[in-house]
Amino acid sequence: MTIGIFGFGCVGQGLWQVLHETKGVRADIKKICIKNPDKPRPIDAAYFTTDPAQILDDPDIDIVVELTDDPEAAFSIASRAMRQGKAVVSANKKMIAYRLPELYQIQQETGQPFLYEASCAASIPIIRNLEEYYDNDLLTSVEGILNGTTNYILTKIFSENLGYAEALKQAQTLGFAESNPKMDVEGFDAKFQLCILILHAFGVFVEPDEVLNWGIHRLSDFDIRQARSRGCEIKLVARCFRQGDRVSGWCLPKFVPVGARFSTINNEYNAVSLESAFTETQTFVGKGAGAAPTGCAVLSDISALRYHYKYEYRKFAQNTAKFDSDTTEINLYVRYQQEGDVDRADFTEISEHYASNAGNFLIGKISLGKLKNAAWLNNEQVNFLAI
Ligand code: HSE
Repeated sequence: MTIGIFGFGCVGQGLWQVLHETKGVRADIKKICIKNPDKPRPIDAAYFTTDPAQILDDPDIDIVVELTDDPEAAFSIASRAMRQGKAVVSANKKMIAYRLPELYQIQQETGQPFLYEASCAASIPIIRNLEEYYDNDLLTSVEGILNGTTNYILTKIFSENLGYAEALKQAQTLGFAESNPKMDVEGFDAKFQLCILILHAFGVFVEPDEVLNWGIHRLSDFDIRQARSRGCEIKLVARCFRQGDRVSGWCLPKFVPVGARFSTINNEYNAVSLESAFTETQTFVGKGAGAAPTGCAVLSDISALRYHYKYEYRKFAQNTAKFDSDTTEINLYVRYQQEGDVDRADFTEISEHYASNAGNFLIGKISLGKLKNAAWLNNEQVNFLAI
């Protein structure tokens, strides 16, 4: 196998390392296309080019590994490569989540494999498990801690009393965060992964903008104290589930009781819990960010190409379900500054209300449709968590 790589950041370097340390996969990296030729790189300069054609038009290169952080460029690279008769491996969650219908179509037209195990929960082999092992309609829900950066920050806050800014800085230094950390801390990165998992779990294409995401960016000391006083930690959780022909999903911070399965997932680790009719809950745990763990997932895709592995998207072919979260109700904790900050009419039920000089909150039931469109979310003094 002869490989051309686009991008040589954290994951590209991780792939380089794992590929050179493994004896099992025989693959040569021929060229690496990068944007900035002046950046110092840890390997021989002869590998690098800034000209995509040196990879895309090279008939010796049969696998293109796309590891850039630019979704538009990534889509153009992936689609051109498949049309040039090359297999493609990618880790670009945002590009994949937004362009899945087109990428599916190009795979059908060209017959080329497009693999992206590293795009979901990094080192946890979840896509292939959903494709192969859970190749039936018995799966009812997929729930996960899918973002390493936020899990690292939350672990440091709850276990070491570290401040949010310092914990984020550490996650960036360790190479966990996206180049724009807003993607991590506001829940976008986890949502993109959820959209990809929804296709492989339930056979439904979902437009990412339809899925509600909220992150940990407005978490306050008051919220943290509330979590502790309830015997909980806070985790960023993405969840999708199927009820009949309806698939719902969201990505939200959530109070998780200390001792519950997800409370034990710390630092950059991720976890994915699957529920199915007969197996009940099965949980996969593994590193969800970092150069080598993510590089390992990319390597696993490269290795699968030795035996011409492709996703078959069988659930999509058999499927009749639709994505529709708007009427799904969740129980929400909403913290606010003063009465009037939150429109109570949006809630179908309010079960708790707390007011003090330190802060106010209510707990109530609200539909995801109402929550997604709530104008009061624009108020910086308001934060919410699933409870
Ligand atoms: N920014 C991502 C995370 C990187 O923190 O999980 C892993 O893909």
